[in-house]
Amino acid sequence: MFHTSYIEISRKAYRNNIRYLKNIIGKDTIFSSVVKGNAYGHGVENVIPLAEEAGISHFSVFSAKEANDALKVMSPHSQVMIMGMLDDAEIEWAIKNDIQFFVFEMDRLHKSLEAARMLKKKARLHIEVETGFHRTGFEYDTVKELVGYLKQERAHFEFEGLCTHYAGAESLANYLRIRNQITLYRKFSRYFTRHNLIPRLRHTAGSASALIYPNTIMDMVRFGISQYGFWPSPETHMFRFRKDVKETNPLKRMLSWKSKVMVVKTVEKGKFVGYGSSFLANKRIKIAIIPVGYANGFSRALSNTGRVLIRGRRVPVIGTVTMNTMTVNVTDIPNVERGDEVVIIGTQNRMSISISSFCEMSEQLNYQLLTRLPADIPRFIVK
Ligand SMILES: Cc1ncc(COP(=O)(O)O)c(C=O)c1O
Repeated sequence: MFHTSYIEISRKAYRNNIRYLKNIIGKDTIFSSVVKGNAYGHGVENVIPLAEEAGISHFSVFSAKEANDALKVMSPHSQVMIMGMLDDAEIEWAIKNDIQFFVFEMDRLHKSLEAARMLKKKARLHIEVETGFHRTGFEYDTVKELVGYLKQERAHFEFEGLCTHYAGAESLANYLRIRNQITLYRKFSRYFTRHNLIPRLRHTAGSASALIYPNTIMDMVRFGISQYGFWPSPETHMFRFRKDVKETNPLKRMLSWKSKVMVVKTVEKGKFVGYGSSFLANKRIKIAIIPVGYANGFSRALSNTGRVLIRGRRVPVIGTVTMNTMTVNVTDIPNVERGDEVVIIGTQNRMSISISSFCEMSEQLNYQLLTRLPADIPRFIVK
C-alpha cells in the first residue's frame, strides 16, 4: 500500500554470486562488500545482513554518512571502510568507532594522526596511492615524504591497507592504462616494503579488475556491482567466457523491481503519445501507463528505449518517461488490464529483463539506475 512499485531482493541469487566470486579470489583473499549508494540501490539494511550470513565481514562505503548507516545494521564483529568523503569534523568520530578510512592527501593524514594522538586511539588507515586514475591518492613524487612521516608517527595508526583504484578496468580499451597502474602500484608497494612499512592488506581491485586481471586480486577485493549479479560491462562478461561460449551466466541478479498497470487505452493512428512529439502512433495502438517515472528512479534516458515485462512479454517504452509515469506499447498483448504485474527489472514467466538489455549505454545504466532507486521504494527479501 502507498507505493507505486516495490523491489524484491533474492537471498538465493546473492548466495550464488558470493560463491562464484569467492571462488575466483580464493580463500586467502578478503571479500569486501561495497555497499555505497545504498548498496547499489538494494538497501544497505538488506544487503549487510545477507552478506554477513554469507560469511562476509568487511564493508566498503563512500562517506561517513554511509558508514554510519552501515554501523546501524552491521554485526559488531564486522568492519567498515570509508573510501571517499570524510570531513575533518568526522575524523574523531571515525577513529572512536573503529572505522577504517582511506587517506589520500597530507592534510587528511596530519589531521587523522593528530586526532589519534589526542584520543590515544590508533587511526585505522588505508593509504591510497595515485597510479593513474587521477581522482584521489598520494602521487609517487610525495612517497618519500609520506613514508618518512608515517614512520615517525607509527605509534598512532594501524596500517590497514595500501590501495589504489583502476580507471575503467571494465573496458578493454583501457588495457594499457590499467597495466601501467598495476606497475606503478607495485613500485609504491616495493618502496613501502623497503622502508619496513608493511600494510595489513594490499588491495586494488573492484569487480572488473578482479574478473579480468587476476594479478590485481591481492589480499582483498572490493566487490561492488558483480556481487549484486550484474557484470560491470558486456566486455567483462565476454572476457570471462571467451573460451566456453556454452557456459551459462554464473551471476544472478538479486533485485527485481515490479509495479502494475495503472491504465490501458487505445491511441489512434497519427497521434503523438506523451509530452512532445517523440513518439507517433503509425497505426492504432494499445498503450499501458505504468506509475513509475524518473522521480521513482526510472531514468528519463530510457524514453523510447526501455523495456518492461507484462504477461510474460517484453514491451517497449514509448514516448518520454515523465516524472511519475512511463507508457508502454501493449498492442500485441491480448487481455492486458489494469492491475497486471509489470516487471521493470527481473523475470516473469520465462522472460527476463535486465537493465543491460536496454541499449548500448548499459554499463552506465546499470550503476546509475540501481543507485538512483529511491530508498523509500519498499524492499522485501525473498527466497
Ligand atoms: C574505490 C572503489 N573500489 C571499489 C568499487 C567497486 O566497483 P565495482 O562496482 O565496479 O565492483 C568502487 C566503485 O565505484 C570504488 O570507487
